[in-house]
Parts: sequence; structure tokens; C-alpha cells
Amino acid sequence: EKGTYPHFMLKEIDEQPIVMRKIIQEYQDDNGQLKLDQDIRTAMKDADRIYIIAAGTSYHAGLVGKEFIEKLANIPVEVHVASEFSYNMPLLSEKPLFVFISQSGETADSRAVLVKIKELGHPALTLTNVPGSTLSREANYTMHLHAGPEIAVASTKAYTAQIAVLAILAVDTARVKGLELDFDPLQELAIVANAMEVLTDQKEELEQLARDYFGTTRNAFFIGRSTDYHVAQEAALKLKEISYIQAEGFAGGELKHGTIALIEEGTPVIALTTQENVNYSIRGNVQEVVARGANAMVVSMKGLEQDEDAFVIPHVHELLTPLASVIPMQLLAYYAALHRDCDVDKPRNLAKSVTVE
Ligand code: F6R
Repeated sequence: EKGTYPHFMLKEIDEQPIVMRKIIQEYQDDNGQLKLDQDIRTAMKDADRIYIIAAGTSYHAGLVGKEFIEKLANIPVEVHVASEFSYNMPLLSEKPLFVFISQSGETADSRAVLVKIKELGHPALTLTNVPGSTLSREANYTMHLHAGPEIAVASTKAYTAQIAVLAILAVDTARVKGLELDFDPLQELAIVANAMEVLTDQKEELEQLARDYFGTTRNAFFIGRSTDYHVAQEAALKLKEISYIQAEGFAGGELKHGTIALIEEGTPVIALTTQENVNYSIRGNVQEVVARGANAMVVSMKGLEQDEDAFVIPHVHELLTPLASVIPMQLLAYYAALHRDCDVDKPRNLAKSVTVE
């Protein structure tokens, strides 16, 4: 039940620090070490390439997961939109492992891929919020997201849970493979949980920003580079699905290759910057759109901020910044939808789990 909350979405946004702490607890043994099924460890260790299959927000979490697994566990990863996979089936490696990411565990597009790869005899691991769901039962292995029921159609806490569990999976695999790491995911996720609390306490500021930037606009652009680009895509999806504002997430460097033609006087452009190596370039993109009349908002991370930034998120480990930077994006979408009198929890034309292909 939503208790004192006006909407499930707002409640679920607020639950994210609790979900992080739950994940830390569930994936930790009595000695404070990572706890994972031995079978999953073996499957990850044996894989020469990982194919992540997902849809929508879960696909966006997969894009972040690819970075973790490649950077930390040193295994090549491809991320595929489930509905596209079978049209152009990639050339598979010799020992592929398929990782399905699905909040509901019922997404038909993902299930179609699972059926197909099982016929080919390949192993599958499902990351889901619903153990016992179709994708969980039909895969060889399951990792539980522990996010608790997600009722609002717009996915929020499942996205951050997916990213947290992917970080744990990547680090665990690295350890099993004997790779040296100076990244303790449980410790860093605890820092994230605290940062999330700070962020969910800033509703008034974000409500005002939503009013200023999305009050009457017909479209909006989110830009980022590297990890921030993945969050820009998720931010755009959140905004469009509940507020019906046409929104797109772009790689900062791609602006000049076409999208910048759409910038007019007052067009909202939200730029994310949480990575030191892109901070300079993305700010260059902001100047380019401002010169063409955009109403730009910079959301940066502590340590990289400048005076004119509209919003600054607390400092978290550079690999885990999506877990913090997505929170203001979720709240901006929520308040934009609220101000436009949209049905936040049940947006038009959408269902919580998409069980048709
Ligand atoms: C967006 C959203 C959808 C789902 C997508 C996949 O907020 O909820 O894009 O992420 O339909 O659903 P699952 O994760 O249940 O497979």
C-alpha cells in the first residue's frame, strides 16, 4: 500500500536507500564477504562473452552493467534490446552466458530470446525482482533484486537494484577469477544509500526545477557522455512515459551530428556530469546549446561542480554514479508529470508488465 504517499512512484523513489541496504545484506555472508550461488560463480567464470538481454529501463541498467563486467571482471559484454535480438542474431562466442534483466520476469520479448537460446543449448541467468516468474523459472540461474513490489508503471527502484546487483555480480566474478580490485561494492553501495537519502530529501528543489524547465515545454533533451549517457537515456524514458513530453537522451558528442538542429529558444537541455574525464567536454556541449537559445540545466557531482550548476549530487564511487544521478531525474519526471496533471502511476497506453511480443 502507498500509505501517506500520493503515488506509488514517489514511495518507490523514496525506498531506494532501503533497497540498497537490503541488497548489501542479502549478498553478504557472515564474514562480510560477497555471497553468491556457486553455480552462478562457475557460469560467470566459464563464460567467454556475456549477452545481456532486456527491454526499456532494464535495458538501460544493462548498459551500465556492461561497464562493470568489462572493467572489473574483464569479460566482453554485449547488451541487446530483447525485441531486436532475433532479427540480427549476433555471432555468438564459443561459451556464451545470457543474462536476462527483468523487473517483472514476464516480459515476452525477453522470454522469446530465452526460449531461442535454450534451444541452442546456452546457459541463462535471470536478474529479476520476482523469483518464480517465467524468466526466473526457465533460466538456469536467478539473482533476486530484493527491491520489493514495484507497482508504479514507471520503473525506479528496480533500475537501481539491477545496477547494484550487477555491480556485485561483476566484482564477485573478478574475485573468483583472482583479479586484483580496489573496489569494495558493499562499502561503496552503503555510501550510495546515504547519498540517495540526501537526494530524496531534496524534493522541493527538484519540484521547482521541474516547474522551471518542464512547465510548458513540448520537448526536452538529456545529454551525457560515457556512463552519464546511459543515465541520460533512462532520464528521457522516465520523463516521456509519465509526462508525455517528447524527450530524448543523447551522447554529448552526437549533438553536432544532427540533434542540435532541434534546439530552439527555450528548449530544455539537461546535462549530466559525474565523470571527471568527460566534465570538460560535456560543458562544452552545454555552451553550444546555450548559444542556440537552450534552457540548459547542469546536474553535476560534488567535486566536479561549477557555480552555475542547477543541482549537485553527493560524491559516490565513479562506477556507481548512475545510482545517485538517476534519482533527481526520477523526481524531475515525477514532478513534471504531476504539474501537467498526468496519471503518474498509470500512464496512458502502458502496462506494468508487457506480456505480448
Ligand atoms: C519503464 C518501464 C519499462 C520496463 C520494460 C521492461 O519505466 O517500466 O521500460 O522497464 O517494459 O520490463 P521488465 O523489467 O519487467 O522486463
